[in-house]
Amino acid sequence: MKGQILKRLKSENDVISGEALSSELGISRVSIWKHIRKLQELGYEIVTTSSGYRFQSSPDVLFPWEFPGREKNIHYYDEIGSTMDIARDMGRKGCPHFTVVIAGQQSKGRGRMKRVWLSSIGGLYFTIVIRPEISPALSHKVNFAASLVLTEVLRKNYEIDAMVKWPNDILVEGKKLSGSLSEMEVEADIVSFVNIGIGLNVNNDPHPEEQEAVSMKKILGREVSRKEILSKFLDEFEKKIDSIAYDEIISEWKKYTMTINRHVKIVTIDDVTEGLAVDVDENGALILELSDGSRKTIVYGDCFHKEP
Ligand code: BTN
Repeated sequence: MKGQILKRLKSENDVISGEALSSELGISRVSIWKHIRKLQELGYEIVTTSSGYRFQSSPDVLFPWEFPGREKNIHYYDEIGSTMDIARDMGRKGCPHFTVVIAGQQSKGRGRMKRVWLSSIGGLYFTIVIRPEISPALSHKVNFAASLVLTEVLRKNYEIDAMVKWPNDILVEGKKLSGSLSEMEVEADIVSFVNIGIGLNVNNDPHPEEQEAVSMKKILGREVSRKEILSKFLDEFEKKIDSIAYDEIISEWKKYTMTINRHVKIVTIDDVTEGLAVDVDENGALILELSDGSRKTIVYGDCFHKEP
C-alpha cells in the first residue's frame, strides 16, 4: 500500500486530498493517514495541508515498495550482520527465485577468502537468491553473469569506465568499485540455490585502509541514487538469468576484463603463483603461462595485477 500511495502522490504535482486517495486506493482515510505518517517517519517528505497531501522527496533508502513489482521478494534491513547469512537461511527455507536481501549497513560484511567487507552507510550491499535448474558445475557462471551485468549497468547508465578483474571484481582505473561473493547449496546433484552477494561503493567513503578502493561518488563528483542503480541492475540481471546462455557468458564477460594479457599474482590460502594471464576458459578458470612456458589453470584465488 505504501508503494501505491507514493506512486499516486508522485504522479500529482499538486495537493491530493485524503478522500481522493482513499476512494482511489480502496482503503479508509484513517489508513491513508497512518501510512503517510509512517512514510514521514521513514524520511519521506510529504507535506500535510488542510486540503490533503503533497509529495516532496524520498530518502535514498531501499525499502521494498521502492521496487514496484518486486516488493514481495525484497527484504530490507537498516543494519544486519551480513546479507549472505540472511539469504542463506531464506534459501534453505525455500524462498522464491530472485529473492533479494538488502542492508543499509552490515556489521559483519563478508568478502572473498574470509576477508571482512567494510559496509558503511551509503554503499549498496545485497544478496540475491537464484534458483537456476543447473548442475553445480555451471553455477559459477551465475557470478560471471552478475559482474558482467553490473559492469554494463555502470558503463551504460553512468558512463563509468568499469572493467572486471578476474574473477568478479569491478575496477575503475585500477581501484576497486565493487566485489562479489557467491555461495551455493546442492540437493540431489542439482543446484538448490546460488546466492550472489554484491557490495558496491556508491556514496560511502571507502575506509582509509582500503587505499585501492573507490566509490561512484568519488568518480562522478556527485551522490548517486542507490535505488536507481539497484533497480536497473535487478531488471537487467533478471533478464540475463532468465534467458541465460551458459556457453556465452564467459565470452561476453571477456569483453570487459582487464586481466587477460597482464602479469598477475594469484594468492590462495596456501599458495602463490605468478605468471602471464593468457585466457579465461569456458569454465571461468584463469589460464596462466608460467616463466618456464608451462600453463597452469587457476580455479580460485585473489588476483593481483602487476604493473604492465
Ligand atoms: C570481495 O570482493 O571480497 C567480495 C565482497 C562481497 C561483499 C558483499 S556486500 C553484500 C554481501 N554480504 C556480505 O557479507 N558480503 C557480500
